[in-house]
Amino acid sequence: MYKNEFFDRVAVSDDPLLFTDADRRKVEQLKQRLGDLAGMRVIEPGCGVGPLTEYLSNWVGPSGRVLAFDASPGMVRECRRRLGHLRNVEIAEATMETVQLRPATWDLAILFRVFPHFDDKGAILRRLRPCLAPGGRLVIANLEGSARLNTLHAGFSEPVRHDRMPCLRSTTRLLEEHGFQVLSATDVDDEFFVQASPAQKVSTGEQ
Ligand SMILES: C[S@@+](CC[C@H](N)C(=O)[O-])C[C@H]1O[C@@H](n2cnc3c(N)ncnc32)[C@H](O)[C@@H]1O
Repeated sequence: MYKNEFFDRVAVSDDPLLFTDADRRKVEQLKQRLGDLAGMRVIEPGCGVGPLTEYLSNWVGPSGRVLAFDASPGMVRECRRRLGHLRNVEIAEATMETVQLRPATWDLAILFRVFPHFDDKGAILRRLRPCLAPGGRLVIANLEGSARLNTLHAGFSEPVRHDRMPCLRSTTRLLEEHGFQVLSATDVDDEFFVQASPAQKVSTGEQ
């Protein structure tokens, strides 16, 4: 797959997307927004070499669990090499489009620095919704706002240069169309964060 080859190369490059000091400060902000994750079951599609996975492992602690997966075999290999020792993390090679996820199981699905790369974003949201446990949340987060990220992508090579992060309004509409309600959201120059939960079905009173 074309995109996989791109990310396989990124995985073994000088810049496999590990966090800079500035990124780490933004990740602390992300943690504030996520709140206490201790004991939670978290899925992280598109984990790459696992820069956030390492944090998630720490945030959920020994009683929590993280399932991190990625479509790129190269990314998965590097992620396992770096983080294979973490007992509360499972690392798998899988695509978000085909991965088998147990229904009503996950407290948090976090799409971190991956949402722009999904070709059919609505289909991904449809797949994730039934996987969430009661009270579960979906988070879409990037370390840049949508406008800045799209400018960055436009400068990359072919497989990802057209990958676009929808602005906050479009993301909100997409989430609502696929059965989510937005709980909190921000789209500023150096951060994109949307937190949503499955919308409660409105009772029509019909049997
Ligand atoms: C920009 S990288 C970010 C990786 C990681 N989230 C990080 O923050 O470093 C995007 C990752 O998403 C993965 N990816 C893209 N589309 C995917 C899909 N449909 N299913 C699973 N992984 C996917 C890519 O292989 C790549 O590793």
